[in-house]
Amino acid sequence: MATETIAVRPTPTWIPLKIEDPIPPPFLTPKFGFKVTPIHPTFGCELEGVDWSKDISEEVYQEIRDVVDKYGVVACRKTGLSDEAHIKFSAHFGELDDVRPYQKAGRVHRLAYPELFDAGNIDPHTGDVAPLTAAQVIGNKANEQFHVDSSFNGRRAGHSLLLAHILPPKGTGGSTEYSDSRTAYEELPDETKQRIEGLVANHSLFHSRKKAVPEYFKDTDPSKLPLSKHKLVQLHEPSGRRNLYIASYVYSIEGMPKDESDALIQELLTVVETPRYRVTIDWKDEGDMIIWDNTAVLHRATGGSYEGKFRRDMRRTTVKDMSSARFGLNGEGADWRVGLP
Ligand code: OGA
Ligand code: MN
Repeated sequence: MATETIAVRPTPTWIPLKIEDPIPPPFLTPKFGFKVTPIHPTFGCELEGVDWSKDISEEVYQEIRDVVDKYGVVACRKTGLSDEAHIKFSAHFGELDDVRPYQKAGRVHRLAYPELFDAGNIDPHTGDVAPLTAAQVIGNKANEQFHVDSSFNGRRAGHSLLLAHILPPKGTGGSTEYSDSRTAYEELPDETKQRIEGLVANHSLFHSRKKAVPEYFKDTDPSKLPLSKHKLVQLHEPSGRRNLYIASYVYSIEGMPKDESDALIQELLTVVETPRYRVTIDWKDEGDMIIWDNTAVLHRATGGSYEGKFRRDMRRTTVKDMSSARFGLNGEGADWRVGLP
């Protein structure tokens, strides 16, 4: 294998790269020799060499975790993980969120475990492609805007681990795109950094849904529904870098007049949408898993011609944020969840 020619160098220390630099060459991780292939100058990589058929030990997890902390988004191909193994591996990252509140509110859950969020387009009743009007498909449409998972809950998400079970035919779309919000923050003009330091954003699930499908949510007023409060600029504790915590869910900036607040949100969304910070990852095979850190990157579904035609079965575990900013300004222990039944 060609891996013999790859230099081994330590991964855990973040060495800031400039976006103008070329994509760094592949390397092997220090202890287990997993191959890391960067896919963008400043973030994102493919990870090979992990034996996903075995239980993942704490030591192996730590080596994977170092790569996740540094790269923000990590694609692992053909893991073949079962639902149970997917959940078990995810639990290394921290406490797992679940869909029980939505089940209690009456939503039918297609998947066997409440720890699996359904990011696919399959109707739980028929097993076929859900009609474009189904709540789940509306959620998927809203997911085509750059976002971070669960920032609208009392406790936000840390990591997400999305696993492909059924992919639509090649060439019909369905890739997932990411944006590097740590580098986006670092490259902000000093004037902007000063202007946004200490500001608090109000996050709303319904705001993002309403932007995606305005007619459907025309009578929904996000300001009358729960808003989750998080600082716009945060320390990403695992890497020691600062992060711009903006997302399609940001409805308003605390204490700012509406027009000024709308303009600032749009300004910051435009920054993270800049092509230089973005990378698209294609799902190649069933069993592919992408791990990302919602407190270091944004992501979005990209849609495609498969929508409404072909099944895309994607299952996601969502790890509750384990950092000191996990509750934002929502109060210690806030565990309320927001969603449609
Ligand atoms: C998610 C998500 C995007 C996709 O699962 O949180 O945004 O491409 N998925 O399915
Ligand atoms: Mn998402």
